[in-house]
Amino acid sequence: MSGTLNTPLSAEGARMSADEDRASLPEVEATPLVVDVEFIEVEEERGLPRLDAVDEISTARPRRPLELPRGAATPEGRARVVTVINQKGGVGKTTSVINIASQMALRGHRVLVVDADSQGNCATGLGVDKSRVSTTTRDLLLSPECAVDSRHATAVEGVHIIVGDRTLVGLEQEMLRQLGRERRMTEALAPLLPHYDLVLIDTPPSLGLVTINALVASDGIVIPVQTEYFALEGLAMLAGTIREVRGLLNPRLGVDGVMLTMHAPTLLNNQVAAEVKEAFPELVIEPPIRRNIRLAEAPSHGIPIHLHDPKSNGGLDYQKVASVLESRWGLV
Ligand SMILES: Nc1ncnc2c1ncn2[C@@H]1O[C@H](COP(=O)(O)OP(=O)(O)O)[C@@H](O)[C@H]1O
Ligand SMILES: [Mg+2]
Repeated sequence: MSGTLNTPLSAEGARMSADEDRASLPEVEATPLVVDVEFIEVEEERGLPRLDAVDEISTARPRRPLELPRGAATPEGRARVVTVINQKGGVGKTTSVINIASQMALRGHRVLVVDADSQGNCATGLGVDKSRVSTTTRDLLLSPECAVDSRHATAVEGVHIIVGDRTLVGLEQEMLRQLGRERRMTEALAPLLPHYDLVLIDTPPSLGLVTINALVASDGIVIPVQTEYFALEGLAMLAGTIREVRGLLNPRLGVDGVMLTMHAPTLLNNQVAAEVKEAFPELVIEPPIRRNIRLAEAPSHGIPIHLHDPKSNGGLDYQKVASVLESRWGLV
């Protein structure tokens, strides 16, 4: 009877089925079609346009203050699990994961990096040839019991990695069919946690199921923010995701720190940095990570900045940021 599917309903037929529907469904409430927006501007007296109007627009603030709750303390006897996240690409997430992990290992902490991004740049930046790795983050999410055997040593003593790679592409579709799909990462990491001090998860530039898995498994998150325009808008979106995950899946989740990345001493960068600090005075980690070519070079040698050029601006900044995080994480 496939023919009937292609036959358009006659007007009469449509009316009849609408009538039937009306008989069986309750009345739909009228929807106000215009969103009731409250305007901030005060009506001006007619006359010449105000000269300070432009300034006012550029200093406009979102009306609702952004809320980023703090993460809960790490339970005794296990690693702190921290996701490095920002749904924007190219803001320094992977660079931060590689260098913070390395700094922590340098201070004697046992660190596991979990790369949940299909680009797999954590492996490269830590000296691991991902083409020769057979068990990856994809396997861990599909079969959590294989987590223990998915770990690999890296060029940095004290840092282990579970490698992310291209096979993560399309995984979210496959996971949709699985029960408990948001808790796969939590399940996988559980047996590893007593053996590490810190688990750092790198995420893709999206808020999909893999990222949700990372957030559900985490105690805290670190947000690298590039000091460019729209930084606060990006944070508002992320704050919404955190609120949802806290409400539905992981009430412990909170923010351990907001890092300012790729910072250059321009007027715009400084303005954005000041805005972010004003919005989250207790969360912003000082100093900002300066824009520094040595940080971009290091991954091509498969080493973090403290091995490539520890005295560079990037090397010094990551060292200081790691100190702040070390105490926030209760690792000192
Ligand atoms: N502070 C910095 N100064 C200069 N280049 C940087 C800095 N941080 C990161 N980069 C470079 O910028 C690019 C994007 O950084 P990356 O860490 O991969 O961002 P993300 O993981 O958020 O996409 C990379 O090529 C990286 O080497
Ligand atoms: Mg990345």
